Amino acid sequence: MKSDIQIREMMIDDYEAVFNLWNGMEGIGLSASDELEQIEAYLHRNPGLSLVAVCRETLIGAVLCGHDGRRGYIHHLAIHPDNRSRGIGTRMVQDCLKRLTVLGIQKCHIFLIPENQKGFEFWSRAGFYFRDDLELMSIDLE
Ligand SMILES: CC(C)(COP(=O)(O)OP(=O)(O)OC[C@H]1O[C@@H](n2cnc3c(N)ncnc32)[C@H](O)[C@@H]1OP(=O)(O)O)[C@@H](O)C(=O)NCCC(=O)NCCS
Repeated sequence: MKSDIQIREMMIDDYEAVFNLWNGMEGIGLSASDELEQIEAYLHRNPGLSLVAVCRETLIGAVLCGHDGRRGYIHHLAIHPDNRSRGIGTRMVQDCLKRLTVLGIQKCHIFLIPENQKGFEFWSRAGFYFRDDLELMSIDLE
């Protein structure tokens, strides 16, 4: 049977539905960089990499994907709870990785909230490995 789930490029018109999916979801940490203007800039800078999953016109999955010319980054992968464990998250990640590979990117990073054990298992199954040789540090810019 043909899948009723369509995975396609994220458009800025998807923003409201995407934000509503992310907002309050366990494992997803939102910040000021997830406001409309910032997401629009992100999509503009990384065309064709961020994806949504749609089921009969309802948005049920989203993921941000981009790169800096050297490394790829995947953020905020989220599948609506009613649609989990159907392989949609895996399909979206594989699609992002394929798109990064086509652009010549050889490694992709994800950021995980430490308590997100289910997320850790998901990413491990998708082939990602834990880095104990690195710590993340950041600085806030004006
Ligand atoms: C993590 C998340 C994106 C996974 O999405 P998903 O669509 O359920 O992922 P999949 O269906 O591809 O895989 C989930 C599990 O279902 C299993 N599965 C996949 N297809 C299946 C099927 N047809 N039948 C039964 N099980 C299946 C997979 O083996 C997988 O097991 P694992 O979690 O132990 O790896 C989703 O749980 C989510 O949105 N979590 C909250 C947000 C979050 O933590 N995001 C990650 C932030 S870094």
